[in-house]
Formats: sequence, structure tokens, C-alpha cells
Amino acid sequence: MSKVHVLRLPGQIGKTDMALGVAVVIDVLRATSSIVTALSSGSTGIIPAANREEALKLRESYPDSLLCGEEQSKIIPGFDLGNSPRDFTPENVQGKKLILTTSNGTKAILGAKAQGASAVFMCSFLNIDAVAKTVACEASRGDAPHDEASRKEKGVFVICSGSHGEFSLEDFVCAGALADRLANKGLALEESATEARHAYFQYRDDILQALHDSQHGKYLEAIGYGADLPYCARVSVTSIVPYLADHVIQEYAAAGH
Ligand code: MLT
Repeated sequence: MSKVHVLRLPGQIGKTDMALGVAVVIDVLRATSSIVTALSSGSTGIIPAANREEALKLRESYPDSLLCGEEQSKIIPGFDLGNSPRDFTPENVQGKKLILTTSNGTKAILGAKAQGASAVFMCSFLNIDAVAKTVACEASRGDAPHDEASRKEKGVFVICSGSHGEFSLEDFVCAGALADRLANKGLALEESATEARHAYFQYRDDILQALHDSQHGKYLEAIGYGADLPYCARVSVTSIVPYLADHVIQEYAAAGH
């Protein structure tokens, strides 16, 4: 049976062998909420970049793409969009490829890929039930050439992107919400996942309160992005499941899975 692990700090990514396993990256405020929204709004794909310089270099290969991203949660000067999910509207992104760089989320996505995860999904509260369904299916499926037994041993790695390397309450609560759903689908929880699940139980009737209680939520409110909190606290408003297809983030179902 696949086992669910929660990595509460991004620093754990480089120390975790995810080969053959399934990785799920969470950055509630705000990268994975933005990625889910962008695909829901009709973006043709999102290319994650580690930093501003890498994003600008990628733009040379994708001249029609939009440059999106933040530094200290504010739009990078000269970029087309920042990292507020409310900016990823159909008017702004429909039919367009995006290049996205953020302080935490895109780094965690690239980190999970570098650690050999066989699949890298993106989760937020917005799409959590669809992610739980997809991940439970993927985790229970052997995959040639990797034999089923080795894949099952490797499990599911739920990664909290954190905030500049520090613990993030909102990501941990979301990881617990996902762990709860996966446990209810028959997956076993490693103790880090059990701990996250219990954190979720404290907030499950008021997810928005978890975002208000978080350090990053308070910071976003202080710099004028308070409206992102209720937006990102909505639970299962879309069935879109983003995954990293080679170097572009696309919708899993639309890719024929
Ligand atoms: C991120 O999404 O990586 C960070 O949380 C920064 C932000 O968008 O506020």
C-alpha cells in the first residue's frame, strides 16, 4: 500500500528520494493557487522558472509567452503579471503560455522533479478533491518499466513550499486536508502526514481562518493583497489537476490521463 509523507519544510526536498514516487506540491499563498487558476482560465501551459534571470532566458525561447512572477510577493518590474491568482483571468491568459517564477512554489516544483518523482502534481484548496482522486489512482498503479512493488514502496510525497525556507501554516493545513482525503481512500499515513491531518482538523470548518492565522497571509494583507486570502481559501471549486509534463505544467486530464 502506498504511504503518504508530508514534507513540512522545503529544505527536506533535497534530502528525500522521490524516485518512482508521486510528488504533490502545495503553495496555497499563492503559486499553486495561481497555477490552478491560470489553467482554469485557459492558459495553454505554465513553465516554472527558478528565478527572474531564468524566466527572462526562457522568454527568449518562448517570445509569445507572458512573463509572470513575484519577488517579495510583488510583481517583478517589467513582467506582464505578478503572482496574485486573481490576475490570471481568461482575459489575461486564455490561449497563452506563461513563464512563472515565485519565491517558493516554482522552486519546490523544480525541486520535486530534480528528486526523481515519477509525477509532480500541484495542489491548492481550490482543486484538492480532484488532486486526491488523481493521486490515489496514480499511487495505486504500478508503472512500467518500474515494477508496481517498487512504486508502491516509494509512496506519495506532499511538499509544503513554505515561505523563504520557513514553515507555512496554510501549506501544512492544506497538506493535512489532502492526507485526510487520501487516508479516506485507503492510503496509509506516515506520522508527518498524520500530524498535518490533525492540523487540518483544527481548521476544516473555517479554512480562511488558517490563512488569516498564517504569517504569509498577514504579510499579504499588509501589502494590499488581502483579497487573495478568501480567493485561495475556497475548497474544491475546480477539478483541474496541474502536473509537470517534462518542463511545462499542464492539465492532467487534458493530456489524456
Ligand atoms: C510563492 O507563491 O512562491 C510565494 O508564496 C510568494 C507569493 O506569491 O506571495
